[in-house]
Order: sequence, then C-alpha cells, then structure tokens
Amino acid sequence: MNGKRIIVVTLALSFATCGGPLLAQENLQSLRGTTPIESTSATPEQKHWQGKTDLIIREFIDQPPLIPHKSQSQKINLLTNKCLTCHGADTYQKKKATKVSDTHFKDRDGKQLNGVSASRYFCTQCHVEQRDAAPLVANAFKPDPACGQSKPGC
Ligand code: HEC
Ligand code: HEC
Repeated sequence: MNGKRIIVVTLALSFATCGGPLLAQENLQSLRGTTPIESTSATPEQKHWQGKTDLIIREFIDQPPLIPHKSQSQKINLLTNKCLTCHGADTYQKKKATKVSDTHFKDRDGKQLNGVSASRYFCTQCHVEQRDAAPLVANAFKPDPACGQSKPGC
C-alpha cells in the first residue's frame, strides 16, 4: 500500500468510526425541522399567489421591480409576450401599466434598439410575482436607505 492509499483508508475509517454515527445521532435542524431523514415530513401549508397589490417598494438600486399582480398564466414564448401587451411602449398608456424600462431597449453593447432587447424578452427571469409566504430562514437584510420608493433609480 502506498502513502496516498494509507491516508485515504485512515480518513475513511475515522469517519466510519467517529463521524458517521455522530451525524446520525445528532438531532439535525434543517428546513424540514428535526424530522429524521428516513421519515416523511408533514405536508407544507399551501401558499397562494398574491392578487393585485399596490406597487411594491424597491429595496436596492437596480432591483427589478416585483410584480404586484398575478402573472402565472401569462405566456412568454417565441410568438407572443403577454407582458408586453400591457407594458409595451405602444400599449402601456391604454392599459395604465408602467412602461417597460427604457434600459430594456438597449443591447448588451448599449446600442439603442426599436424593440425590447432579446436579453430582456423573458420578463420573469428578473421580475417575480409574490406569494403570501414569510422567508424560510431569518436574514439580516436591510433595504438601502437611498431607496424606499417605487421609482427608477432604486
Ligand atoms: C392586463 C395587463 C397586464 C399584464 C398582462 C401584465 N401586467 Fe404588469 N402591471 C399591470 C398594471 C396595470 C400594473 C400596475 C401599474 C400601477 O399601479 O402603476 C403592473 C405592474 C407591474 C410591475 C410593477 C412596476 C413597478 O414600477 O413597480 C411589474 C414589474 C410588472 N407589472 C411586470 C409584469 C410582467 C413581468 C408581466 C408578464 C408576466 C406583466 N406585468 C403582465 C398590467 C399588466
Ligand atoms: C435581465 C433582467 C430583466 C429582464 C429579463 C426584464 N427586466 Fe424589467 N427591469 C429590470 C431591472 C433591473 C429594472 C430596474 C432598473 C431599470 O429600469 O433598468 C427593470 C425595470 C422594469 C420596469 C419599471 C420601469 C420603470 O420605469 O420604473 C418595468 C415595467 C419592467 N422592467 C418590465 C419588464 C418587462 C415587461 C419585461 C419583459 C419584456 C422585463 N422587464 C424584462 C430587469 C429585467
């Protein structure tokens, strides 16, 4: 047996004799609570998509604004983009929706385009609808004090 193999075997043995049983015994906390790995956890409560709300405050500079209405059934594919039927430059006034951002009409080299750039076509890559759910884990995030308004710039 060469040196490398001896180290690997020693590591494997020490894990099997110490680490393994220790991990199994400990009451590990995870998003499933303390439910043991081999048990099925309780069915989580069903969360609902939020209906229409006021515009949602932006919390950091260049945050894609969150969607304040249902949008699950709105198709975005090669032939159609439902979002643009309300948010498009030629439709937003009639639909009383926010105009799609002017930044979305530039390609990655900053060249001005006539339509929405391909890199901004799939709106829900960045803009997301909200569910009535609290964060799964606590966090210490604080909104940028320069924001706190639902307008461009934040
Ligand atoms: C039937 C019309 C309609 C459709 C379709 C629609 N929206 Fe909207 N959207 C609105 C209206 C109206 C508002 C609210 C404007 C207001 O209150 O000032 C809004 C608000 C928003 C906002 C918030 C803007 C801000 O400044 O905070 C985002 C983001 C948004 N929509 C994204 C989307 C996306 C993405 C889709 C497609 C998945 C979509 N919308 C489809 C009408 C629509
Ligand atoms: C790659 C990410 C990305 C994609 C894809 C994208 N957006 Fe945005 N959007 C943003 C960001 C970031 C902002 C805020 C900064 C800005 O205006 O560029 C924004 C801002 C907006 C705003 C607010 C404009 C304003 O004047 O306040 C609307 C409305 C919007 N987007 C609609 C859309 C729609 C509709 C689509 C799909 C056709 C889309 N976005 C695709 C990232 C994205």
